[in-house]
Amino acid sequence: VHDMLGRLRFALHYGLGFVFLVLHPVFGDVSYSIPEERKRGYVIGNIAKDLGLDPGQLSARKARIDTEDNTIQYCSVNLNTGNLVVQERIDREGLCAKKASCVLKQELVLENPLELHRISIRVQDINDNSPQFKEDSLRIEIRESAIKGARFLLDEAHDGDIGENAVQGYSLQQNDHFKLNVQIKDGGQKYCELVLDKELDREDKNEIVLLLTAFDGGSPQRSGTVVIHVTVLDANDNAPVFSQAVYKASLPENSPLETLVITVSATDADEGVNGEITYGFNHVSGEYNNVFSLQPKTGEVRVAGAIDFEKTSSYEIQISAKDGLGLASYANLIIEVSDINDNAPVIYLKSLSNPVPENVSPGTEVGIINVQDRDSGENKQVRCSIQQNVPFKLVPSIKNYYSVVSTGQLDRELVSDYNITITATDKGSPPLSSSKSVQLSVADINDNPPVFEEQSYSAYVSENNKAGSSLCSVTARDPDWRQNGTVVYSLLAGEVNGAPVSSYVSVNGDTGVIHAVRSFDYEQLRSFKVQVMARDNGSPPLSSNVTVSVFISDVNDNCPQILYPAPEGNSFMTELVPKAAHGGSLVSKVIAVDSDSGQNAWLSYHIVKSTDPGLFTIGVHSGEIRTQRDISESDSMKQNLIVAVKDNGQPSLSATCSMYLLISDNLAEVPELKDMSYDEKNSKLTSYLIIALVCVSTFFLTFIIIILGVRFCRRRKPRLLFDGAVAIPSAYLPPNYADVDSTGTLRSTYNYDAYLTTGSRTSDFKFVTSYNDNTLPADQTLRKSPSDFAEVHSYFILSLKFVLRVDLSTHLLPTILRNSEIHFLFITIGSLFNLVLLCSFTVHSFPAITHFP
Ligand SMILES: *[C@@H]1O[C@H](CO)[C@@H](O)[C@H](O)[C@H]1NC(C)=O
Ligand SMILES: *[C@@H]1O[C@H](CO)[C@@H](O)[C@H](O)[C@H]1NC(C)=O
Ligand SMILES: *[C@@H]1O[C@H](CO)[C@@H](O)[C@H](O)[C@H]1NC(C)=O
Repeated sequence: VHDMLGRLRFALHYGLGFVFLVLHPVFGDVSYSIPEERKRGYVIGNIAKDLGLDPGQLSARKARIDTEDNTIQYCSVNLNTGNLVVQERIDREGLCAKKASCVLKQELVLENPLELHRISIRVQDINDNSPQFKEDSLRIEIRESAIKGARFLLDEAHDGDIGENAVQGYSLQQNDHFKLNVQIKDGGQKYCELVLDKELDREDKNEIVLLLTAFDGGSPQRSGTVVIHVTVLDANDNAPVFSQAVYKASLPENSPLETLVITVSATDADEGVNGEITYGFNHVSGEYNNVFSLQPKTGEVRVAGAIDFEKTSSYEIQISAKDGLGLASYANLIIEVSDINDNAPVIYLKSLSNPVPENVSPGTEVGIINVQDRDSGENKQVRCSIQQNVPFKLVPSIKNYYSVVSTGQLDRELVSDYNITITATDKGSPPLSSSKSVQLSVADINDNPPVFEEQSYSAYVSENNKAGSSLCSVTARDPDWRQNGTVVYSLLAGEVNGAPVSSYVSVNGDTGVIHAVRSFDYEQLRSFKVQVMARDNGSPPLSSNVTVSVFISDVNDNCPQILYPAPEGNSFMTELVPKAAHGGSLVSKVIAVDSDSGQNAWLSYHIVKSTDPGLFTIGVHSGEIRTQRDISESDSMKQNLIVAVKDNGQPSLSATCSMYLLISDNLAEVPELKDMSYDEKNSKLTSYLIIALVCVSTFFLTFIIIILGVRFCRRRKPRLLFDGAVAIPSAYLPPNYADVDSTGTLRSTYNYDAYLTTGSRTSDFKFVTSYNDNTLPADQTLRKSPSDFAEVHSYFILSLKFVLRVDLSTHLLPTILRNSEIHFLFITIGSLFNLVLLCSFTVHSFPAITHFP
């Protein structure tokens, strides 16, 4: 059925066409089909025949080809033959481009009658166009990092022809890297892609030239080519590479800044930014940045800071080289620093016994030092020394330790501080040295006793000084330190006259000034010695002693004291002067003593007043009263002399006494002896006194007589001792009266002793016993006495009065003593003592007394 319908349709179709052609002969259309690009004059067909026209009429009918719209007239009619020929070039591509059917419409116009025939000329394509690419060459840039299978779209090739004559396929020149992948678009066009079949390497081949051919399906086949320039773009696939894995350099320490140490270099196969290398240190912290610098572009390593061997002797630095996109590689840079002797030795004082006691024995370690040199090798070897003039030396110990050892005895009092200078020198070249000063103090030891400035001291003081007055000062020096040298003075215990020395003087412990504690009395004490000790405050303390002699000098503070005759007023003494006395004979003697000494006790005697001035003289110094001329009958029987005794002091002191002289050969002749000798004022007291005296005298006389009787019976060997002169018993005289010198002045030594006895009866007794051995020498005679017994008696009286006077002059109870009862008591006691005294005298002096006629 289909087949039938197809045939039917075909038949219908052509049949209708035929019909149409037949039905419209005048206006009938003809169509032709011609290939394009026919030459001019190419006969398309015989139109006359086809239209059934008489070709002879054609020219008559002015047959011509017209276009519908007066465009280009492609064909013309040969009027002779009726052939339709090509007039103009017919280019299908120009007329219809890519249209599948290209029909050129022309009209054949005939006149007379006018006839119009349409002529359709179907232009058939011929393969007259080659496939063509837009450009001759194509540039593609592919990064070398592109992976396999990557596609790169290529330009299409164009062919003006259509159908089979259009582009049918592509082919790619054989190459290592790419394949071609042809694709068909929706419209049926074909295009192609370049597919990377093998990775690129710019460093291997940086440009690839490919030839792409497009071909059509015409016959003969036509083709077009394009050159593809594949530029392989660099990918940063190459890291920089250092020329050495390890760079080594050496550098002396202390190299100046900017010193070139080494230049490192690296290469990078990449190009451009990828091959631009930047050098740097590969470390996180900036620890080397201040020591070395690395020029980022040139790779120069320079000194940028202090190179100190002692701090770092070698540097190991990782350096990096990086290209522009950050690929890096690394190398090690080892810089050895060589030592320079740039460090002086340093001395450290490790320990020091400061202060060191002065008594340390030589060889004692007083300190330890340590010497260090930060350099190395020879530069590190150090010699140590100590300066010469100190008693210390260095003793090397382990390693760099030295002991500071004393070499001699120290003496703080000579050198108390030492500056010990220790010098250390290394063996570098040039050598460096340093020194250290060590202050060492010497501590004190109490090794010096205080020393007095003088061997002994003497102090002179006048008697009657004020208590508390200073006598002298002693000074002792102690060179020790502080309390070891602080001197304290003190008195050493001792006795002066049986009293502790401290009751005489005191010493100021700090100043050494010696003060009198009491007022001194020369008459009691002439000199004494005290021991003063100077002691320091050390522990144990040291001390030394010195003797201070205190000499008391005399002051004329004592009046002469007339011992005989008794002072005026109390005297009832009368001297008998024989009438036959010749001129110059000794009548009596004034005996005076002065407790002072020297000039102050140098007595002179003067007769101040006398009954008969021409009769008696007195020896100025002896006190002896002598007749100046022979006694004459005309001379008054009673002679009265007032004698003044003066000492030689400044001012001089004096005493006076009266001397009653009776020119008579017989005591019985003396009238009113009592009146003359004794002025009784206090009769009651005196009567008691007399009674007492008489009792004592009686007793005494009895005693004497008994003794004398006994003696006379035994042996009778009379020998005149006194040469008829009156002997003054030593009992009431000061002791050693025998030592009266030519001047008649008693020696002061005994004056003192005499006064000592006054205060104490026992002393009085002692005094007697101590001098009773002294027999009275001849020069103590006064004169011949008519009655020895009377003389003895008178001595007795004298002594009694002496005692009495002493009692009265006692300083102890001056007011009480004025009381007459007490006075009497003293008299009585004094008498009794006197009695005892006399007895004792008699017993001891018996041999002498036995010579009394
Ligand atoms: C010891 O050294 C110090 C400081 O160096 C100085 O003041 C002092 O006077 C020196 N002493 C002696 C005794 O040289
Ligand atoms: C005094 O000497 C003693 C040793 O005799 C000593 O121990 C003491 O430190 C010294 N005192 C002073 C103040 O130096
Ligand atoms: C000083 O005298 C005292 C007491 O007599 C004595 O103990 C001491 O040893 C004496 N000192 C000297 C240094 O003679």
